[in-house]
Amino acid sequence: MKKEIDVALKSVVSEADCQAFHAAWLGKDGAITRAVQGLRNLSHEERAKKGQELNALKKQTEAAFFEMQEKIKQAAVDAKLMNDELIDVTIPVIGEVRGSLHPITRIQRSVEEAFSSMGFIIEDGNEIVTEDENFTFLNIPDSHPARDIQDTFWLSNKNVLRTHTTAMQNGLLKKYGPECRVLFPGRCYRNENLDASHDMAFFQVDGIMVGKDVSIANLIYFMKTALSAVFKKDIAVRLRPGFFPFTEPSFELDASCAFCEAKGCSTCKQSGWIEFCGCGMIHPNVLMMAGIDPLVYQGFAFGFGLTRLAMLRFNVSDIRVFNSGDVEKLKAVGR
Ligand code: DAH
Repeated sequence: MKKEIDVALKSVVSEADCQAFHAAWLGKDGAITRAVQGLRNLSHEERAKKGQELNALKKQTEAAFFEMQEKIKQAAVDAKLMNDELIDVTIPVIGEVRGSLHPITRIQRSVEEAFSSMGFIIEDGNEIVTEDENFTFLNIPDSHPARDIQDTFWLSNKNVLRTHTTAMQNGLLKKYGPECRVLFPGRCYRNENLDASHDMAFFQVDGIMVGKDVSIANLIYFMKTALSAVFKKDIAVRLRPGFFPFTEPSFELDASCAFCEAKGCSTCKQSGWIEFCGCGMIHPNVLMMAGIDPLVYQGFAFGFGLTRLAMLRFNVSDIRVFNSGDVEKLKAVGR
């Protein structure tokens, strides 16, 4: 049998041959399988001896078969790449078939542009952060219920995939000290039940401004100016009381609806306002944990969803489009 198998293997040159070889020797009705089944008619000693031999033969044949199959597959791919699927990257683009930036990238850049033109430094940070960076340094101690609301992916060393870009705040306060304007966008993660408005990975942006007399008036001005730049029209903002452990006082900031000139439409649920971002004055505990004296310095902080902004700006109703990698759907997202 071994000799026959060697001969048969030599004549395997295509995927069809592979299938035929497998059926003839290793498949349900293959010669080896049948021989194994035939063992039961033998005496005890013979069965043990032949069984071992057959097992060895089966293993060898399988190994040789898989190797051959891989070779043939690889050869088919190589041939395709060499011939019909050869891509000549030097051929100029014809018509409209061009690549373009992802809508989230476009939104992120327009927000970055607005804030950097007002003196903000743009910073980037790790997606894997310590529990302290994500929670403790933000005045969210171990037993705080805010930890439950922002459940996320925990690594075995107790690091987490950051639930908000705010996780970068402590490090940046330490890096830039008590007189700073920093904007820090990035991808965040949460343990979510996925639906049209929740994804487990999404983009946010946070900003901080610290100084001796930075106030909420400054916050309102910067938000109003930045949002007007992003939406390319005059946007009004208003503050409502809110709660975040890392700011005191905390606010929810609403933006006037860009789609109906604040007259009321389905996007703003007829109210003329869109709930847009969390913000407030950085909590004294948070400043202290970054080595900044809260009796001398104060600052504002804000954070909002870039993904949510992209949904608003491009009128996308299903958040899952952004991470889908579905080029056709992404192409449909407006400019
Ligand atoms: N990190 C908050 C969230 O993800 C948003 C936020 C609120 C950020 C207030 C801030 C802030 O910097 O001051 O829900």
